[in-house]
Amino acid sequence: MTGLSDSFQRPITYLRVSVTDRCNLRCVYCMPEEGIPLLPMADILRYEEIATIVQAAVELGITKVRLTGGEPLARLGLADLVAMLSPIQGLDDLCLTTNGVLLGRQATELKKAGLRRVNVSLDTLKPERFRRIARRGRLEDVLEGIEAARDAGLTPMKVNTVVLRGLNDDELLDFAALTLKDEWHIRFIELMPFTDTARRDGSFISVAAMKERLESLGKLEPYDGHNDGGPARYYRYPGAPGTLGFISPVTEHFCEGCNRLRLTAQGRLRLCLLSDEEIDLRGSLRDGAGPEEIKVLMLAAVASKPRGHTLGHGPALHECSMAQIGG
Ligand code: 5AD
Ligand code: SF4
Repeated sequence: MTGLSDSFQRPITYLRVSVTDRCNLRCVYCMPEEGIPLLPMADILRYEEIATIVQAAVELGITKVRLTGGEPLARLGLADLVAMLSPIQGLDDLCLTTNGVLLGRQATELKKAGLRRVNVSLDTLKPERFRRIARRGRLEDVLEGIEAARDAGLTPMKVNTVVLRGLNDDELLDFAALTLKDEWHIRFIELMPFTDTARRDGSFISVAAMKERLESLGKLEPYDGHNDGGPARYYRYPGAPGTLGFISPVTEHFCEGCNRLRLTAQGRLRLCLLSDEEIDLRGSLRDGAGPEEIKVLMLAAVASKPRGHTLGHGPALHECSMAQIGG
C-alpha cells in the first residue's frame, strides 16, 4: 500500500467520524440555546454503513479514526460501533471526543469494545459556570466521566478547553495547576467564530496571550511526547507530570500539515472543516455501491481537498456548527 495523499502531497491518515448531530449540551460557542435543526434519523448513517466506509478508508491508508458528534455517547449503543471498528486490520488508533457527561456510565464498556483513548471537552472547573457555558448538564458528571476513563485505561486522556475572555479565561492558571500535580493533559483552544456568542467582540483570546499568562506559573518547555500528528503544540512546566497543549486555528495556519478528512453524521465526506465541499457517500451506499466504489469516490474526493482556509484573515464564516460538522 502506498498510502493516501492529496494533490498537495499531504499524507491523509486521519478520519474523524461524526456519529450524530445530537448533543445533550448547548455550549455557547457551538450552538444557540434552542439547539440546531436536527437531521431525521433515516438520514443518519447506520453503524453498518459507517463500518463499510471506515473499512474502505483504512484500505486506502487511513490509520486513525476519531468518533465525534454532536455528542457521540448520546447515540445509543456506541460501544457496538466501536466493537465493529476496532478489529479492522490497519486501524492503529481508535479514539473518541466527548463532553464527558455520559462517560462515567460507558467508559468500561467502550474500553472492552476496543476503544483506545478519549478526549474530554471541559471549559470550567466551577459548577455554576458550567451551566453558563454548556447551558445544560452537570460538571460533576464530567469529572466522574474523566475519572472513569482513567480507571478504564482510556489513556492518555486529554482535556479540550476552549478559552473565552470574560467567561473562563480567569481559570487558565487553575487548569494549568492541575498539570503540576497529576498527569493531566490540557489543551487550550482558540475560539472559532461559529455562533453569535463566539463572534461577539472581545471573547477571543489568542494562544500567544494565553501563553503569556501561563508563564507566570513557570517556564513552558516544549514537549514532544504526544506526537499525535495533530495541530496541538505541547509544553510542560519543568518537572510537571502533566502537559499543556495549544491549538490555534485562528492565529496560526496549520493547514500545510493537515492530515485529516471528516465524515459527517449524514454520510458526507468533508474535506476541510471550513470548506463546504462534501461528497455524499451515503447516497452511493444506499444506491448499492460496494466498498470498491466507495474507495474510488474517496480517492477522487481526497484529490480535491483544498489547500487551506482563511479563518481570521479572509471573509467571515457562514452559519455552521461544530455539532453538525463533527469538531
Ligand atoms: N471554537 C473552538 N472550539 C470549538 N469546539 C466546538 N466549537 C468550537 C468553537 N467555536 C470544540 C469543542 C470540542 C471540540 C470537538 O471542538 O470544545 O472540544
Ligand atoms: Fe455539544 Fe460539543 Fe457542541 Fe458543546 S461543543 S454543544 S458538547 S457538540
